[in-house]
Amino acid sequence: MTAPARTRTSDDLIRAEGPVLAHNYHPLPVVVARAEGTWVEDVEGRRYLDMLAGYSALNFGHRHPALIEAAHRQLDLLTLTSRAFHNDRLAEFAERLAELTGLDMVLPMNTGAEAVESGIKVARKWAYDVKGVPAGQATIVVAAENFHGRTTTIVSFSTDETAREGFGPFTPGFRIVPYNDLDALEAAVDETTAAVLIEPIQGEAGVIIPDSGYLAGVRELTRRKGCLFIADEIQSGLGRTGRTLAVEHEDVVPDVLLLGKALGGGIVPVSAVVARREVLGVLHPGEHGSTFGGNPLAAAVGTAVVELLETGEFQRRATELGVILRDGLTELVGRGVLGFRSRGLWAGVDVDPAIGTGREVSERLMREGVLVKDTHGSTIRLAPPLTITAEELRSALGALEKVLA
Ligand SMILES: Cc1ncc(COP(=O)(O)O)c(C=O)c1O
Repeated sequence: MTAPARTRTSDDLIRAEGPVLAHNYHPLPVVVARAEGTWVEDVEGRRYLDMLAGYSALNFGHRHPALIEAAHRQLDLLTLTSRAFHNDRLAEFAERLAELTGLDMVLPMNTGAEAVESGIKVARKWAYDVKGVPAGQATIVVAAENFHGRTTTIVSFSTDETAREGFGPFTPGFRIVPYNDLDALEAAVDETTAAVLIEPIQGEAGVIIPDSGYLAGVRELTRRKGCLFIADEIQSGLGRTGRTLAVEHEDVVPDVLLLGKALGGGIVPVSAVVARREVLGVLHPGEHGSTFGGNPLAAAVGTAVVELLETGEFQRRATELGVILRDGLTELVGRGVLGFRSRGLWAGVDVDPAIGTGREVSERLMREGVLVKDTHGSTIRLAPPLTITAEELRSALGALEKVLA
């Protein structure tokens, strides 16, 4: 007989998942049952500092009071209409998100991958309707080592064989160039190019930050060559790097912005394509949609997220605490850390493989009460909630120092 969930231990629950859940993840062996702010608690009541923050979906921490309040208020009024009808929350969400990002129009979706898919469709349509690319010939230029999600079309232009193998046939129409290489981009963009799609900082690849001038160069090149610049800020955006958007570090405004993760406040999946009117204006009724996209609950939470970002507090915290993160990691270089890259409260840390794989280091940190996630090989990613205190951040760095010693 199966015991009720609340009487099961963490070990019971981990074992129970095996036969009934698809094995598409390899989670750390921790079973989280409660969370508040920067802290999560497991089934047995052990507390952990969350230094991953749901891959940046929890930029405002777990259960931020303003976001929980907005969700509760909306739950009591209206949760879903579908876009067959209007709802009274969507206009304000779109107005404020457009204002926050300096763009004109919003296409609300749910997950990050859906925003990417939608951005690709919009760019292709723009290429045919506005740019005049012959039917069926539009191309999109992307960067090697990209991560934009898991749909069939998106993995079609991944360079990660694990993400692709066994999932073909793939969607054509993509050209892959090395990241951070403007010459390669120049050579790849031609009259068929609808858009250049890149992450301003490559998150999944290990927080890879391009050289200063790259993003401004992509902006100049795409403008000169007459194609769109699509910035996937699903992980880099919404305060993480010390600015609302990572492209702001180079004063760049893309034509199309893809947002997700933190836009839903860690409560509901909310994503969006945000763009200039000339671009999103190519969509007409019936050409694209989503039953849940722009639902009133998502719009209420999304609006509350935008309100938090309008204060500038989280961007400021990411900048200030980012200095502590950078200084702390700098001290560990040569003491178990081979190198690191950081911007704001976001870092990719290359651990000396002699000390352990990223996975092993993550497990050791877990035993010290700190949750992180490895990315490739011996790289771990640090992305705490932007609500973390200086003291908590120093204690996480102390735990890292301890497990690397
Ligand atoms: C840059 C980027 N784009 C898209 C996605 C996909 O988002 P989702 O997992 O919500 O589909 C991710 C997820 O990690 C991401 O980091």
